[in-house]
Amino acid sequence: MLFTGGAAPALGSLVILSQDVHRIFGGVVPELASRAHVQVIQHVVDRALGDARTRLADLDGVAVTSGPGLVGALLVGLMYGKTLAFSLGIPLVGVNHLEGHLFAPTLEDPSVSPPFVALLVSGGHTLLLDVPAWGDYRLLGRTLDDAAGEAFDKVATLLGLGYPGGAAIERLAADGRPGRFKLPRPMIQELEGSGPNRFAFSFSGLKTAVLRAVRASDDLDRDRADIARAFQDAAVDVLAAKTAAAVETLGYPLAVLGGGVACNRTLAEAVAGRLDGGARLAVASPRLNTDNAAMIAAAGAWRLARGERSGWDLEPRDDLSLTDSPTLSGNAG
Ligand code: KG4
Ligand code: ZN
Repeated sequence: MLFTGGAAPALGSLVILSQDVHRIFGGVVPELASRAHVQVIQHVVDRALGDARTRLADLDGVAVTSGPGLVGALLVGLMYGKTLAFSLGIPLVGVNHLEGHLFAPTLEDPSVSPPFVALLVSGGHTLLLDVPAWGDYRLLGRTLDDAAGEAFDKVATLLGLGYPGGAAIERLAADGRPGRFKLPRPMIQELEGSGPNRFAFSFSGLKTAVLRAVRASDDLDRDRADIARAFQDAAVDVLAAKTAAAVETLGYPLAVLGGGVACNRTLAEAVAGRLDGGARLAVASPRLNTDNAAMIAAAGAWRLARGERSGWDLEPRDDLSLTDSPTLSGNAG
């Protein structure tokens, strides 16, 4: 959750590092995630205000993530945000977590604005979106099975790299030899046609191909970096090819990368490299691509400025969609 104070949201906004809890348990344990939120929320809010040299009295409104995500963790933020907004007598605005990822690059580069094609790649989502205007999100394609980040995490586990493993795969792949393992580029051929899966993704077959390569290896210490490289090359190739093709199809001047997997430099370079001269890529720095409060503040500030308000009955929605409804569910205004 986050605050909007004055003009631009403060970049000092903190990440609640429940990732540490997840790392110890090798994945997200919902009950532990909620408990971690309860334990740190007050401290995080105090520090965010301190870092931004702001007081509660200076806030214009409270923006809070209402979904999608783990209901228990969302509930903690929502209860806190509602209480704060109510007691300060300022508006509350619910924000879709995924919309936050789309706004992240605007924090460092205010010139980032629609129309653009967005590739949202996180632990839970892989969405290719047509964004003709803020608030108007049209689905071009999504993953039919695993999310891109989930695939990175599962492959990291197969290679014995721990959780979450996306960044570890990227580091390891940098030492890997290209082409030593040949892995499939799932659904790349659909790009040539005009069928419904033209911009769709699939990563579970690629993950299975990695599993086979790991099992077939008689020396994983020798092969680990090469397998990581082959996996990343395949995943990045499909993501970059489809993103660039969507930009070209729509004739937009901009592509935006968002979500935790957007921290991957190889992916950003591959997308930028495939865009033709007329289009550029916007991607936030890693700190703002990983889940954070500043991006929710940016999306919330935009919604607040156009007069949106959420009711006190705003509820957490684990499956809140970015593309199904024009006004994000729960917003009253
Ligand atoms: O958006 P995010 O912080 O949390 C979700 O909303 O899911 O994304 C987390 C995901 C994890 O799957 C993590 O492995 C992945 O982002 N990730 C990366 C990299 N850094 C984080 N994947 C590939 N390369 C990276 N450098
Ligand atoms: Zn996220």
